[in-house]
Amino acid sequence: MSKAPVLEIRNLVKAFPGTDGEPFYAVRDVSFSIPEGGSLGLVGESGCGKSTIARMITKLTDPTEGSIWLDGEDISHIPARQVKQKVYRKVQMVFQDPYGVFSPRMPIGTFLEEGLVYHGIMSRREAGEEAKRLLELVELPASLADRMPHQLSGGQQQRVVIARAISIHPRLLILDEATSALDVSVQQGVLELLMRLQKEMNLTYLFIGHDLAVVRSIADRIAVMYAGQLTEELPSERLTAQAVHPYTRRLLDSVFSVGDKGRKVISIESLDASQAVRGKGCAFAPRCPRAAEKCKKELPAPRLLEEGHIVCCGQV
Ligand SMILES: Nc1ncnc2c1ncn2[C@@H]1O[C@H](COP(=O)(O)OP(=O)(O)OP(=O)(O)O)[C@@H](O)[C@H]1O
Ligand SMILES: [Mg+2]
Repeated sequence: MSKAPVLEIRNLVKAFPGTDGEPFYAVRDVSFSIPEGGSLGLVGESGCGKSTIARMITKLTDPTEGSIWLDGEDISHIPARQVKQKVYRKVQMVFQDPYGVFSPRMPIGTFLEEGLVYHGIMSRREAGEEAKRLLELVELPASLADRMPHQLSGGQQQRVVIARAISIHPRLLILDEATSALDVSVQQGVLELLMRLQKEMNLTYLFIGHDLAVVRSIADRIAVMYAGQLTEELPSERLTAQAVHPYTRRLLDSVFSVGDKGRKVISIESLDASQAVRGKGCAFAPRCPRAAEKCKKELPAPRLLEEGHIVCCGQV
């Protein structure tokens, strides 16, 4: 029997009350899974529902419909007293703004001890030693343990946050725009660190971002979202040549090279998809060159185009 994926989300839906009383669907019937040691990149423009998915996985908000499975166990309806052991112990999250995670007057070392002590993995004294090892693991000097958060640069802070996230050996690390606020060269260093840690510790990543070039550099598979729905999922290395969904193609076409380093930059025209999300059809249909009448009426179901390549479009 093959091993259950570390994370599987099935037909997730999240509706928020809209301003006009009608529900607004931030996430519409999204399914994907990540095997142990895998990294899935979730991309899509601002407001498409990426963070809402992360918030449902970490129990910050409940799904309206659908289920979330960790290591083969449905955590969607577990009682509150099991959340610490079955969710917080297994899933760690790193956000865009590292400073917001720290307590301003807590030394870095103490901050790093917290997860280990909270989950009963180590005594405070042992955790103090472990904090220094963790700092070195993320390529920072152990002497930073005595510093205060504001004495570190943004890049150093994010390394510390990553160190704390991996300190408890989580089953899944969710990185939500974790490198987006960093300067390009600092960002590259943190991405390389994440790749090294993943290999060394066999970590499983859900890497969320809006910059396709960044996401594909770290993810082995890419899942693209548009206005709450999944449009396509395929291996990163096949993205450019084999993506077929009209929205993914549009995203790829808007990638262009600037500067002498050949760094890829994504420019995605921002648009208001909220009207489409109200309807039952594909949210991209109003802008899609291939849209047919039926696209406006029903949300296309995921279809396996070929091994490892899922597309949610009836027209390709
Ligand atoms: N608590 C809430 N109440 C109402 N609407 C919400 C709530 N949280 C999110 N939304 C809406 O749901 C949609 C998806 O938001 P979400 O934060 O998941 O987007 P995102 O893809 O993470 O965007 P970004 O790239 O800007 O971080 C947005 O339209 C947002 O305004
Ligand atoms: Mg977000």
